[in-house]
Amino acid sequence: MVHLFAPLTIKSITLRNRIGVSPMCMYSSEDGVANDWHLVHLGVRAAGGAGLIIAEATAVAPEGRITPGDAGIWADKHVEPLARINRFVKAQGAVPGIQLAHAGRKASAARPWDGSAHLANIAGGWDTIAPSAIAFGGGLDKVPRAMTREDIARVQRDFVAAAQRSLTAGYAWLELHAAHGYLLQEFLSPLANQRTDDYGGSFENRTRFLRETTEAVRAVWPESLPLTVRLSTTEWVEGGWTIEESVVLARQLKVLGVDLIDVSSGGGVHAARAPSTPGFHVPLSERVRREAGIATAVVGLITKPAHADQIVRDGQADVVLIARESLRDPNWPLRAARELKVDPLPAAPVQYARGW
Ligand SMILES: Cc1cc2nc3c(=O)[nH]c(=O)nc-3n(C[C@H](O)[C@H](O)[C@H](O)COP(=O)(O)O)c2cc1C
Repeated sequence: MVHLFAPLTIKSITLRNRIGVSPMCMYSSEDGVANDWHLVHLGVRAAGGAGLIIAEATAVAPEGRITPGDAGIWADKHVEPLARINRFVKAQGAVPGIQLAHAGRKASAARPWDGSAHLANIAGGWDTIAPSAIAFGGGLDKVPRAMTREDIARVQRDFVAAAQRSLTAGYAWLELHAAHGYLLQEFLSPLANQRTDDYGGSFENRTRFLRETTEAVRAVWPESLPLTVRLSTTEWVEGGWTIEESVVLARQLKVLGVDLIDVSSGGGVHAARAPSTPGFHVPLSERVRREAGIATAVVGLITKPAHADQIVRDGQADVVLIARESLRDPNWPLRAARELKVDPLPAAPVQYARGW
C-alpha cells in the first residue's frame, strides 16, 4: 500500500518519500540573490530527510517581489548562488524545487518583521501591477496599475526566462505560484480581476493568463521534469474563486502538461477567513485529485506523522507539504519515520548516526 515513506516517481524524478518542505519566503535576499542563510535553511531540511524541498516564492521580475528581501531569478547573477544550494540539497538525497512567483498587487511591501504594509516608493517601494486597478486592502493599499497586453506578454516572457534559469540552476521540480492573492491568482479571481478584455470576465478569460503562462513555461521546461501549480482552490468568500472552478482548471492544466496541483487556499481577499483545523485543505485536495484525475500535494496545519501518513494511504494527496512544523523541527521526516516505525528506517546523514 502507498504510504508516506513510499517513493514517488513523476516523470524522470523520484522522491525518496512523499514529504515536501513547502515554499517559505525568507525575505533575506539582497537584490534577489540567495546567500548563506538560504543554504543553511534549505540544506538542513534536506539533511532532515524530506523528499522534496521547494524553495521560496522566487520573483520572475524585480517588481514581482513581495518585499525588497524576496528571492529572485530575473537575472543571470541569481543562478550560481541557487545552484550551490541545489548541489547540497541533492547531495542529501532530496529533490530541489523552485516556486516561480510574481506578487502583483501585493508586491512592494515591508518584510513581516517590519510590519508587512505597503512601502511608499520613497521608502524603498515601487509601482505595482495587477489585472485591474484595485488595491488589496488593509495595509496593502497601493492601487496597482492595470496591466496592458504588453505587460501581460512581458510577464509571461519573465516566467519563461525564469524557468530556463531554474533549469540552469539545477532545479528538478518547478512550481508556478498561482495562489495566495499573487499575480497569477489575481487573474483567476472574479473579485481582483474586473477586466473587460480577453483576460477577464468569463472563466475562460480569467484562466487565460495562467493557461498561457503554463503553456509557455512547459515549452522550455524539460518534458522529463515535473511542472506543478499551486492553486488557492477557494477564496473562502461569496463571489470569489471556487473549488468547482479549481477542478475544471486542474483538468485543463493537466492537458497542458502540468503533473501535480499543490492545493492551498485563500490569500486573495483581505477580509476572508479560512478554517484553521488540522489538514483543512485535505478535502479540497481529495476533490481535485479525484475529479480532475491529477496528482496533488496538500499543505496546511499538518503536523502529526500519523495524520500525514493517513492522507497518503487514503488517496487524498500524493505529497504532503510541511511548512511551519518544518521550521519547528527540520528533522521532521526522520522523526516521522521513527514514529511510524518505517522498516527499514531511512538513514540519517552519517554525520548524525550517533544521534539517531
Ligand atoms: C515563513 C513563511 C513563509 C511562506 N512563504 C510562502 C511562499 O513563499 N510561497 C507559498 O506558496 N507559501 C508560503 N507560505 C505558506 C506555506 O507554504 C504553507 O502553505 C502554509 O504555511 C500552511 O502550511 P503549514 O500549516 O504547514 O505552515 C509561507 C509560510 C510561512 C510560515
